[in-house]
This record gives sequence, structure tokens and C-alpha cells, in this order.
Amino acid sequence: MKRALITGISGQDGSYLSEYLLENGYEVFGIIRRHSTPENQENRIAHLGDKVKTFYGDVFGQSSLERIMREVQPDEIYNLAAQSHVRISFDIPAYTFQTNALGVLNMLEAYKEVCPKAKFYQASSSEMFGNSVNENGFQDESTKMIPVSPYGIAKLAGYNFIRHYRNAYKLHAVNGILFNHESPRRGTNFVTNKIVKAAVRISLGMDESVELGNLDSFRDWGHSKDYVRAMHMILNHDEADDFVVATGRTHSVRELCNYVFGSFGLNWTDYVVINDKFKRSEELAYLKGDSHKIKMILNWSPNYTFETLLDEMIKYWVAYYVSVK
Ligand code: GDD
Repeated sequence: MKRALITGISGQDGSYLSEYLLENGYEVFGIIRRHSTPENQENRIAHLGDKVKTFYGDVFGQSSLERIMREVQPDEIYNLAAQSHVRISFDIPAYTFQTNALGVLNMLEAYKEVCPKAKFYQASSSEMFGNSVNENGFQDESTKMIPVSPYGIAKLAGYNFIRHYRNAYKLHAVNGILFNHESPRRGTNFVTNKIVKAAVRISLGMDESVELGNLDSFRDWGHSKDYVRAMHMILNHDEADDFVVATGRTHSVRELCNYVFGSFGLNWTDYVVINDKFKRSEELAYLKGDSHKIKMILNWSPNYTFETLLDEMIKYWVAYYVSVK
């Protein structure tokens, strides 16, 4: 049985990746941070029970990482731990850098020291591109990376550490450059789940409005389940390499509102209120990913579309509020 070690296992991607690896016969181990309310920390993986084994630790502590790696002896390591909220990274830039950049370095050092024969996946992000777009309107592996947020800057440092350790120490360390990916398990302070949850509550008479920030940015939104499958494929490619993962379709936040409120027969303009506190001091305006490389080399393609992704999220919140009402 192959052994996988996942940091960030209690997050959206960590939970779907755990399910995917268990289905594929892996033993799954994860690192979680201590939280004063343990249920909050593990609610996305609680349904997996003792099928996953978790350890307390965090990416700040190299010695605890080494201890866990020594105990697990992983074949595959997925570093998904991050401060993952871009707007919040403007409020806590140093913490974001420690987690998303130095955390990667700590993980790599522990990996090099304890289990260098393992394969190492790093959760890199389309936020690293900033406002660079190729002439054809897409971003791919060759697009310049000029990030516009503390989050993106830190992720770019992590991305470069992976490339450096791969080249300098001949480690099988890879980056997945993932565009936005969502699901019912997405944190409700990210725009998709925030809008879906609000629209469901409004349709049920539980709320009257929702406050949002910039409606004019465009994102390439896919489903987390499709993207964790891509992570596994990227890591298991013979050659250690970096891949963009995206749907190739882009929509504005305005279009997202239109689709979600429209599915309840509501006009979003009656319910959305702009609040500047949800805007960013520097914004990434447009993301549309070109994932031809992973399609050609690894034969990956997404099963979900923008519409089926949102339909699943809407269904989830409707069932949730109908059951608690
Ligand atoms: N969160 C949030 N809340 N975003 C809003 C709001 C709001 O009230 N109103 C408008 N937006 C806009 C943001 O300004 C941004 O342009 C867009 O909605 C998407 O915001 P998020 O859902 O917070 O995601 P993100 O694009 O900043 O970052 C996500 O994708 C990255 C990949 O490109 C995160 O998952 C990152 O961790 C990931 O790396």
C-alpha cells in the first residue's frame, strides 16, 4: 500500500484528496494544526473516521515535520497547507509569507533530510501570474509571474523553492499551478460559496442582501474534485514537472451572481450591496487558464463545468437550510 502525507488535510482540497487516495488504495496521513475547537479543525474529514491518521504539527516547525515524516515514511507528500485567502493576505502579509513561502522551505528541508526518495507536490496558484496574460488571452506555464498580492508573492517564492530543490538536489518535487477551484466544502468567505450561500438564504427569506467587493474581476472556476485528481496525476508523472490546471473558461463575479440568483428566479441587482471592505488594494483582474499541457501529456480533463459546479453548491446549501429550518 502506498502512503501519502498531506499538509492542509482539513481543508477543501485536503479532504477531497484524502477521499481520492483512499479510493485508490492509499494509506492516508495528514498534518493538522491545533485548534481550540477540534471539531472546527476536522469537520471536513470527520466522515473519514480512522481511515486517515492525523498528527498535530505545522509547517513552521521543521523538527516536528521531520518526526512525522520519519514515522509515516511517505511515498507521496502533498503540501496543501497555506493561508489561502488572498484579501486577508493584505492584512497579515508576514504570517502569509511565513506559511506559504517559508513553510514550503521547511517542508522541503524535512523531505530532503528524511525521505528524499518520496515525491513532493506543491500547491502553487494562478495568483502567481498577477495581471500577466498571454497574447491569446490565456495564462499557461510560460506566462510571466508578476504577483499582485502578498499571497501571490509568497506562493511564487514557494514555487521557486520547488524548482530549485528539484534542480539542485534531483528531488521529484513538482508544482501544480491551479486556478480557482470550488465545491460545497469551500470556505464561505471565498466569493463562490459566499454568493451561493447568500442567494439560498435570500430565496428562503432568511436574509435580505449580501455585501460584496469587486464584481468586475474574472476567474476561471473549476471543481476541487477534478483538481485533486490532477494533483495525483502531476505527482505520478515519470518526469518531475510543473503543470497548469484550469477549465479554460472565465466568468466575472457579476456573471456568477447572475447565474446563482437567476437559478432562484431572482435578479441579483436587487440584493447585492457593494462594500469596499471586500475590495483589495491591488487586484488581479483576469484569469483564464490554458491547460493544454496537462491535457496532452497526462490526459487530464475536468468533469465539471461552471454551471454543474454551481448547481452542486446550490443543491448543497438548499438541502442544508431546508434541514435546519
Ligand atoms: N472573497 C471575496 N469576497 N471575493 C470577492 C468578494 C467578496 O465579498 N467580492 C468580490 N470578490 C472578488 C475578489 O476581489 C476576486 O477578484 C474574486 O472575487 C475571487 O475571490 P476569491 O473567491 O476570494 O478567490 P481568489 O481568486 O482571490 O483566490 C482563490 O484562487 C486562487 C487561485 O487563483 C484562492 O483559492 C487562492 O487560494 C487560490 O490560490
